[in-house]
Amino acid sequence: MIGIFDSGVGGLSVLREIRRLLPAADLTYVADQAHMPYGDRSLDELCRLSVSVVDQLLALGATTIVIACNTASAAALTHVRDLYPDTQFVGMEPALKPACELSKTKVVGVIATRATFQGQLFQSLLERHAKDVTVLQRVCDGLVEAIERTELTSTATRAILERELCPLRYQGMDALVLGCTHFPFVRPLIEQVCGKAIQIVDPGPAVARQVLRTYSKADHDGGGQTMLISTGNQERFVAQAHALVGL
Ligand code: DGL
Repeated sequence: MIGIFDSGVGGLSVLREIRRLLPAADLTYVADQAHMPYGDRSLDELCRLSVSVVDQLLALGATTIVIACNTASAAALTHVRDLYPDTQFVGMEPALKPACELSKTKVVGVIATRATFQGQLFQSLLERHAKDVTVLQRVCDGLVEAIERTELTSTATRAILERELCPLRYQGMDALVLGCTHFPFVRPLIEQVCGKAIQIVDPGPAVARQVLRTYSKADHDGGGQTMLISTGNQERFVAQAHALVGL
């Protein structure tokens, strides 16, 4: 079984891509909604929370675990790999490399949580891939919570995106990285706010391809079941998953 987790509904955008490539794999998704949002927590706290969800997924029989959360990956991916060397982990990182390659203006925007920007992983991405590029970082306060409320097209959600993205447009951004797994759910609204000239980069499909490459045969032989678990309100989570990805 492939385990997948995030602080909330965001990782469902990654689950959707994994399901496309692996229709027969059994997937178990944990939304750690009792501790949502992750974005403003300390890296130590995120590490502790991630280990606790990983333990839960291992107890349920996961052999591959996808950290479908940029924030938890930035804080805990190296740690859980050291802790459980026999488990395959696939993590997320803001797709800065492809965005810098696509950009002609050499001005790239990244929207992600504070913790993602504070982690060492993001610093190392900047050093490796963005030497000759201006990288504009925005946290988008309130957006994760709006998506948790499944407000994908509301006036308030649009106002957050306009507040955060319009200044980046004026500074010449021509590529925008979705550095939080919640954000693909508002991609149509982001496209409206940014206009056609800005390329949007979502690492979800690439992460799903990575899962396809790393998962073992044992994962493959399932019945294609999807199990959804929330550490918060289970009924609410099932309704959210239905609204967002039709599960
Ligand atoms: N979806 C998560 C990410 O990719 C974080 C959302 C949160 O702040 O909980 O970073």
